Amino acid sequence: MKTNASLLKERNAHVPQGLFNTHPIFAANAKGALITDVEGKEYIDFAGGIGVNNIGHCDDEVLRAAYDQIQKYIHTCFHVVMYEPYVELAKRLNAYTPGNFPKKTMFVNSGAEAVENAIKVARHATARTATIAFEDAFHGRTLLALSLTSKMKPYKFGFAPYAPEIYRMPYAYCYRCAFGLEYPSCEIHCAYFLREFFHTHISSEQVAALIVEPVQGEGGFIVPPKEYFKILKKICEDNGIVFIADEIQTGFGRTAKMFAMEHYEVEPDIVIMAKSMAAGLPLSAVTGKAELMDHPQVGGLGGTYGGNPVACRAAIAVLEQFEKKDLLSRAEKIGKKVLQRFREIQERFSVVGDVRGLGAMVGMELVVDRKTKEPATALTKQLVNRSREKGLLMISAGTHSNIIRPLMPLVITDEQLEKGLSIIEESLGEFSSH
Ligand SMILES: Cc1ncc(COP(=O)(O)O)c(C=O)c1O
Repeated sequence: MKTNASLLKERNAHVPQGLFNTHPIFAANAKGALITDVEGKEYIDFAGGIGVNNIGHCDDEVLRAAYDQIQKYIHTCFHVVMYEPYVELAKRLNAYTPGNFPKKTMFVNSGAEAVENAIKVARHATARTATIAFEDAFHGRTLLALSLTSKMKPYKFGFAPYAPEIYRMPYAYCYRCAFGLEYPSCEIHCAYFLREFFHTHISSEQVAALIVEPVQGEGGFIVPPKEYFKILKKICEDNGIVFIADEIQTGFGRTAKMFAMEHYEVEPDIVIMAKSMAAGLPLSAVTGKAELMDHPQVGGLGGTYGGNPVACRAAIAVLEQFEKKDLLSRAEKIGKKVLQRFREIQERFSVVGDVRGLGAMVGMELVVDRKTKEPATALTKQLVNRSREKGLLMISAGTHSNIIRPLMPLVITDEQLEKGLSIIEESLGEFSSH
């Protein structure tokens, strides 16, 4: 039998180091919120394959739909011979996404590819070139998506030159406000700053799109104040700028609404989705106002694999399971529990600088000192590693990798959830005495 160590040796010999691995273990199988490694050790999964398994590992109905499709056909290429699952899923997403206006949807394979296509559509429809993105944003690793991503090391370092015409604003990171202000007396200066930005960075009539995560994921589960997106959206509307919501990590129920922008009562011009939409099969979507999505000429959009029929069938099953299992209510309950426990942990340990969240997207920011807010990067890594040893898989986030960001499957049981949270508290207790 191959062990984690023997497989790691082979991995190191044959796979480039540039692909990071959080945990030195190899999966044998996974179900619900549990992963078993090749040595038979079982883990509670608080990572969900980086937010991909909201529906849980290997949901029976999703498997059934995918298997049924595999038996019929796996690939014809939508550009050669069309198939119903593509159109059916597009129809459903047009209805599910926020905004009571005619919409159209196209499919590609990864989050980054959805980002690229959303920007293509916005540029084409506006005949403008520039995009505004945010500090601490993550939009992927292909050239344009990487250029929109904020964090230098390890993501961007050594990969310049980046795509041009990208302008970066501070995000609404209240714990570390770029303007040194405090909510609510700040009166959401960081959003109104966009108007000033048009004078100091890029003229509004040159801006095709503003792309923003409703809650920053890789950036560290940063939740903007409730007024923030309405202000940004209104300024975009006033200036003919396409407002793109990157719901790749926030989408599919993570925040206890299907899309996080619903919390902010904002209807984006374009919504991009990936991750949890097809339960792990590679699929991403760009859904937007029909007049925008229809703007590029025939053949201007697409790709060989985009909207694979097996992935589309899986995604339709995911949507159905969300309703059947009422996973939005479950996300709310999970979120409340995690928030409560993280706040208790914050009271016990001064290394917990901030706890914040929206639905089941709750983060805990670790700092060396609450006054200086120096990021506790090394401690966060220790915590992730120690938790694994105790049977919990987690990942960190943040520009300084000092934020714990649970992305557990929403089908996790109460018992598994409690156990996972206790492991975090116990592990933290080993490294931090107060
Ligand atoms: C908000 C956001 N956008 C885009 C991406 C890129 O997605 P992918 O890794 O599928 O290209 C991610 C991935 O973590 C993400 O969280």
